[in-house]
Amino acid sequence: MSVNKEVKRVTTNTLLKMKAAGEKISMLTAYDFSFAKIIDGAGIDVILVGDSASNVMAGHETTLPITLDQMIYHAQSVIRGVDRCLVVVDLPFGSYQSNSDIALASAIRIMKETGAHSVKMEGGQEVIDSIKKIVSAGIPVMGHLGLIPQSIYKFGTYAVRAKEEVEAEKLRKDASLLQEVGCFAIVLEKIPADLAKEVSASLMIPTIGIGAGGDCDGQVLVMHDMLGINTEFKPRFLRQYLNIHEQATKAVQHYISDVKSGDFPNDNEQY
Ligand code: KIV
Repeated sequence: MSVNKEVKRVTTNTLLKMKAAGEKISMLTAYDFSFAKIIDGAGIDVILVGDSASNVMAGHETTLPITLDQMIYHAQSVIRGVDRCLVVVDLPFGSYQSNSDIALASAIRIMKETGAHSVKMEGGQEVIDSIKKIVSAGIPVMGHLGLIPQSIYKFGTYAVRAKEEVEAEKLRKDASLLQEVGCFAIVLEKIPADLAKEVSASLMIPTIGIGAGGDCDGQVLVMHDMLGINTEFKPRFLRQYLNIHEQATKAVQHYISDVKSGDFPNDNEQY
């Protein structure tokens, strides 16, 4: 495994340099102190405190219900577990879409109350005024195009986006607009690999793909999916590296059986 130990602290600038040098960027989500410590300690470049916390931590069907206060709680916990990686926090649904003043106030709360290093926002042209305002305030913004889960009720499905030329063209324009207004990176979610390759090659800033093929400048997965904590979610783009669900179930069953049989605690496990 190659972790660049020269990099003491990953910054938005580090990511730009990595793209220029052709070094891939690794990103995973995390929502709490303990997993953030494991993921950062393993050498990840970026942790995303994703609004997917709404799904995997709170059990909601969509990302829409999670609040700004809840995102702040998750981000505060993550930050305490991190020494090296860049931490990006999702601005949740409703915290930036209505107007740019509200968007800036939400981003400022995240930066002030959590100590995180940047925010992520979904959308292109529609939210550009808010992104401009946040960037002007000195807050780094990661964009997010393609399948944007906060708009799930507009799309109606979680299917691959931008397969049709009209949507692909809008995505190309949005990507270049996001770069123009100062975003430091863009997540490309669930779009055709050829389109992601073209967009990645056209930008100076890095793209981070999820279901967008191998030619993005980096990759992101939801931690619960890649560690097999969730077992129901198995999209084609997901590589599962562990089956924690199975292992944890076995461990808990073992514990229950030890308690019931009186095997736990034994003489060495008491005072
Ligand atoms: O919230 C999230 O986990 C995300 C990733 C899927 C990119 O936005």
